[in-house]
Amino acid sequence: MSDMPELFKCPIVPVLTIDAAEQAIPLAETLQKAGFSALEVTFRTQHAAAAIAAMRKACPDMNIGAGTITGQKQFDEACGVGSDFLVSPGCDAALFDLFETATVPVFPGIATPSEALTALSHGYEVQKFFPASANGGTAMLKAMAAPLAEISFMPTGGIDRENMLDYLDLPNVVAVGGSWMIDKTALAKGDWEALGSFAEQQIRV
Ligand code: 3PG
Repeated sequence: MSDMPELFKCPIVPVLTIDAAEQAIPLAETLQKAGFSALEVTFRTQHAAAAIAAMRKACPDMNIGAGTITGQKQFDEACGVGSDFLVSPGCDAALFDLFETATVPVFPGIATPSEALTALSHGYEVQKFFPASANGGTAMLKAMAAPLAEISFMPTGGIDRENMLDYLDLPNVVAVGGSWMIDKTALAKGDWEALGSFAEQQIRV
């Protein structure tokens, strides 16, 4: 694993999709207690912006980022609530223009060496590799290490307890993200104790 930015003190980042507004605060508090230092809240439901605002207030020591930023609307909402970092699944010219105006760290999504080079030309030395497993997983990251030596990656997509260390052991990986540590049944029930202990087990090997 390469030197981590302070943002990823814990190099495992839960990727969250919030289905109900009241989940936000207990979920962040539980995940902080379980040892995570950063969370990514995806803009895939209407609750994302409010959830980020609530989580930041409840857990000021955590880095609460916004994910699935694909255009102006999500960007404005994510920045408006003070997201600590921004993540996109991919990137195009319009998104790079928007990201240039961001005042927090941005991790643009890439899936190929050409996309990685484009993002590097915009100044991004740490990029999201997405969807990681569908694009060759650790083999792809190993193959990109020598020719793209300046770039580090945060892979997400298809990472789980069994393969997370294979990713984290790579020198060009700063952190991994994913949803595998979230017990969906416990989340739906609001069983925070069960959610917390499942999450802790999922990051211990
Ligand atoms: C995503 O953006 O959906 C993340 O990559 C999570 O992927 P996962 O559910 O496969 O962990």
